[in-house]
Amino acid sequence: MEKYVIHGGKPLHGEVEISGAKNAAVAIIPAAIMVRGVCRLENLPQISDTDTLLHILTYMGARVNAINRTTVEVDCTDVQMDCLPEEMWSLTRKIRASYYLVGAMLGRFGRACSTMPGGCNFGVRPIDQHIKGLTALGADMDVSGGFIRAEAGGGRLRGNTVYLDKVSVGATINIMIAAATAEGRTVIENVAREPHIVDLANFLNSMGADVRGAGTNVIKIRGVRQLHGGTYALIPDQIEAGTYMAAVAAVGGAVRVSNVIPKHLECISSKLREMNVEVEEGDDYVLVRRAEPLRAADIKTMPYPGFPTDMHPQMTAVLCCAPGRSVMTEGVWSSGRFKYVGELRKMGADIQVEEQSAFVQGGRRLTGAVVRACDLRAGAAVVIAGLAAEGTTVVEDINYIERGYQNLVGKFRALGADICCVDEPDLPGERTLGWIAG
Ligand code: UD1
Repeated sequence: MEKYVIHGGKPLHGEVEISGAKNAAVAIIPAAIMVRGVCRLENLPQISDTDTLLHILTYMGARVNAINRTTVEVDCTDVQMDCLPEEMWSLTRKIRASYYLVGAMLGRFGRACSTMPGGCNFGVRPIDQHIKGLTALGADMDVSGGFIRAEAGGGRLRGNTVYLDKVSVGATINIMIAAATAEGRTVIENVAREPHIVDLANFLNSMGADVRGAGTNVIKIRGVRQLHGGTYALIPDQIEAGTYMAAVAAVGGAVRVSNVIPKHLECISSKLREMNVEVEEGDDYVLVRRAEPLRAADIKTMPYPGFPTDMHPQMTAVLCCAPGRSVMTEGVWSSGRFKYVGELRKMGADIQVEEQSAFVQGGRRLTGAVVRACDLRAGAAVVIAGLAAEGTTVVEDINYIERGYQNLVGKFRALGADICCVDEPDLPGERTLGWIAG
């Protein structure tokens, strides 16, 4: 099993370039099924979740051509599959975003069949709002025995008004994809406003769709008969950028985080400033420098533009380094987001969890330990804690981390961190995935 080995305590200096947004990529790749023609996708992150989805599309009959490390051409013209066979189930059950394949197949073929999705375990992850939305568009939905089956009456979805009872990123994306080629007009109310929702809308529009209002809480879609090919560059990853910013806050040093959209980082930047971390914004970069002393803070996660839940574990690692009492309150997931706490405690962190809040008594020096990546962002949190800790930290179950962070080890090493991936014979941190040329 591969592991990260970290010798902590080395301040971070230099520049880190942020990759394309994972959560945009995992929506846009399935959406390409809707397109008859070549989608040239630029700034794709080189992570295992995108690899998995491209593998599924290839199996479905798409032609996937890697142009370089971050650009892929996907041609779904000949895809005819509306039901994913058993060979694909282990993959669709591994990642959360596989449920977007249902929206895309339903939009293109009027029928869809796949397994229930997988992904990070935050306790119960209902999909009732996805079902509600797709049903409103005229699909007959059956969710049973671990499968999702959908069939549009008359073979094509029909536009409708959908009100989401809960602000859901996944439901907003799935309904948007399916509605792009539905007959007539769809209005989705109380939608999520995350940057990758806007990115998906921009992708669909550049392929000929008519999607308006993404980034506000109402999205209006006028269905078109067919989508055509085109070129689209994905936005940079807000959470990857936030993770490096958090690492500088916890470990110390000064880093230029480049290839970012600073506006997407405002919620993170303003919280870090409150903690006495200097954040200077440029056009497409932020300069992050930790001043002394780090100050305690209270944080509550909320849907965008609130503080992102996907930065919760990493920021708790930072709070452990800030003298005084801080509180991290989870406002999106009702359970399962606190699994990292047990791992940070192994490193000497003083954290108590009550209901939806972690109470942190910060400022004690963390010490190295053998810890697990319990999920993607929990894994990032223990890496940050390991970089800040005294002594050696070993991070196990790193496959979770590699689902969402491109070349994490290589990027931290370039900033001066002492981190390596054991059992990596050649270049530590540089992983070659199936679809990458060379
Ligand atoms: C996406 C992200 C995930 C992030 C989350 C919130 C992807 C692949 N994953 O997950 O990293 O943590 O957004 O920013 O993009 N809910 C319902 N019914 C539904 C759907 C959701 O009640 O049908 C609830 C959930 O239990 C949760 C809340 O709504 O409490 C938000 O979930 P949602 O935004 O859908 O998260 P995901 O799209 O699964």
